[in-house]
Amino acid sequence: MRLSNLFYNSLNRFKDNDHKNRALEVQILIEAAFKITREQFWIRKNETISAGVELRTFYRYLNRRLKGEPIAYILGKKEFFGETFYVNQNVLIPRPETEILVEKAIQLSNDLPGEPLGILDIGAGSGNISILLAKHFYTNVTAVETSEKALYVLKKNLRFHRVADRVQAVRADLFPPSYREGCFDMIVSNPPYVPEGEWQKLEPSVRDYEPKIALVGGEDGLEVIRPIVEKAPQFLKPQGKLLLEIGYNLYEPVKQIFARSGFSSFQFIKDYNQIYRVVIAHLEQ
Ligand SMILES: C[S@@+](CC[C@H](N)C(=O)[O-])C[C@H]1O[C@@H](n2cnc3c(N)ncnc32)[C@H](O)[C@@H]1O
Repeated sequence: MRLSNLFYNSLNRFKDNDHKNRALEVQILIEAAFKITREQFWIRKNETISAGVELRTFYRYLNRRLKGEPIAYILGKKEFFGETFYVNQNVLIPRPETEILVEKAIQLSNDLPGEPLGILDIGAGSGNISILLAKHFYTNVTAVETSEKALYVLKKNLRFHRVADRVQAVRADLFPPSYREGCFDMIVSNPPYVPEGEWQKLEPSVRDYEPKIALVGGEDGLEVIRPIVEKAPQFLKPQGKLLLEIGYNLYEPVKQIFARSGFSSFQFIKDYNQIYRVVIAHLEQ
């Protein structure tokens, strides 16, 4: 069998229309299993392949994908903001929308007085946000995560990105208990924000594979957002900022939470689909 036969035969194993990206996905799985680049795939597509470890690995990957498992979990990694992060089923797969939060945090750093900055990331998951900010600012980041299994992945990413000396991984419920108040310049968070009732309606590849604790924010989707907005001012220095990612349907209730909070101003930023996705809130100047 040639590599190209393997490619086309595999495409046919997907049920009609159930995978828009199946060609790309099969290609990615072949490249990973055979340890080749995209270019090598095209150059070697007419080569005969023999039964062996690589082919067995490919079929294992393909069968997992056919059952609905996300590619990122099959490969154990995901690209985010141009960097690679380890992932497994204990952490959320970083999403492109979250890159907006990172981009805004980097832009805002120019407005913050003094260095080094103190940054708190609540619900750090794989550590994607914490690590990018620690690299960019060359500063200390406190990465809080409630799930022990997620913290394991986070620490692996800290070592991989060589920032374990600058990012403190803390197991806690929202705010790190041993930190004094008023010590952070910036708090960032991509919290769980799916309302409980919507969880069942999520795509099976999300609902059945990604950790529920990373997705669901209680009955109304606000159970993690609410205490973050209420308590964040205590943990921020004067002029400190909170950057929060929110769900597509939470603009109105989140606006009300911020209106009653200790922040003096806040603005909503839209994502690529024109949905309000990130809130940036400022403490009094
Ligand atoms: C939406 S995921 C975000 C992961 C990562 N920061 C990202 O943007 O890809 C939310 C994370 O918050 C964590 N989490 C949920 N409730 C928490 C809490 N009360 N305190 C700290 N972390 C929490 C979950 O375990 C999960 O890793």
